[in-house]
Amino acid sequence: MKHPDQWALFGGKPTFAQPLHVGQLNLPQWDKIETTFRGIFERQWYTNHGPLAREFDIAFARHLGVKHAIAVSNGTVALMVAARALGFEQGEVIVPSFTFPATVQALSWAGLTPVFCDVSAATHTLTAEQARPLITPSTVAIAGVHLWGQPCAPESLAALAEEFGLALLFDAAHAVGCTHHGRPLGQFGDLATFSFHATKVVNAAEGGCIATDDDELAARARTIRSFHPGEHYAAVTARINGKMSEAQAGLALLSLAELESNITANRSRHIIYQQRLGDLPGMRLLTPEAHDTSNHQYVTVVIDSERAGLSRDQLALLLDAENIMCRRYFAPGTHQLPPFRDHPAYRTLSLPVTERLCRDVIVFPNGAPMTEDDVVKICDVVEALLRQAHTLRAKLERTG
Ligand SMILES: Cc1ncc(COP(=O)(O)O)c(C=O)c1O
Repeated sequence: MKHPDQWALFGGKPTFAQPLHVGQLNLPQWDKIETTFRGIFERQWYTNHGPLAREFDIAFARHLGVKHAIAVSNGTVALMVAARALGFEQGEVIVPSFTFPATVQALSWAGLTPVFCDVSAATHTLTAEQARPLITPSTVAIAGVHLWGQPCAPESLAALAEEFGLALLFDAAHAVGCTHHGRPLGQFGDLATFSFHATKVVNAAEGGCIATDDDELAARARTIRSFHPGEHYAAVTARINGKMSEAQAGLALLSLAELESNITANRSRHIIYQQRLGDLPGMRLLTPEAHDTSNHQYVTVVIDSERAGLSRDQLALLLDAENIMCRRYFAPGTHQLPPFRDHPAYRTLSLPVTERLCRDVIVFPNGAPMTEDDVVKICDVVEALLRQAHTLRAKLERTG
């Protein structure tokens, strides 16, 4: 074990020679990518609803068990298109602040006014009990986020939305391959949106998708995603270029084919994290409920700084220097980011659980290129840092 002065933050050698990031690339092998790309070049069909994009729509819909999957250029565009496909150009949408800012930014772009809701401390997702008091005559929709792949109260939010005649959409950017009571998370709400960003468990470098069982919603989303005349037409008030290219669709298809093996490997690494970090003082790892399954892409830990001896930020600083690039998701919360933070409606907003999570949550690296030995080494470092917490905290406070 390193002596307190030997940690990289104080001039020692980092534990890892190369940075290990959260959201490691789950890229297929090069020969598979080469074959796919050769086909694209031979066909000379690069975009505009080519054969791979159409194949991906079908494959992803089948994977989710929904009628329609509408692939787009990224997860943010998926949310923008989804909001417009639901028919809204204005009105309030109840949404968590504790999410990647794109969730709120996209809905705001589409003309909706975010009404920030606090989240459950146990699941980090919003609940029907928290959303209910925020409903006003101007509310048109609830946008839940299946954060870390955890189901965002699908049944109780559906009941609430039905009671008040609201649309219900889910940002499922983190949730490819995750299920709730055996059902893929894409099956809940009026629609769900996905991201295939490079950091996601299924990735197309960039990419996204809208999933729905509703034929009309799907027709509108297809119309909005493209100005291309070859697409299906439905009555919509705005269109955009949100098409998924053939290169993206090729990567997405390869990545989808490897989803199960990537989840299995993620789960094995997550179990090591759980076994090694779960019993350390002040460390609480989020794990799926017995009736849910996860893709395990996110290893999410809530730190109780009193019990751990180090705050989340102090631990992250020490780990970063060791090239263990944990993420302080999501700090600050979206309501405390521009443009929302500067708006009078949000300036005095208090979301106690969100603010606590923004202070205490840290996400550890996982994903295909990582080995189980990497995880063991990361856990050794965390354990050693916590054992020396008292000395390290004093050192950090001295050095500012
Ligand atoms: C919860 C959530 N929603 C939306 C997005 C936006 O997805 P994209 O990066 O594909 O635009 C992300 C991106 O990471 C996300 O984490």
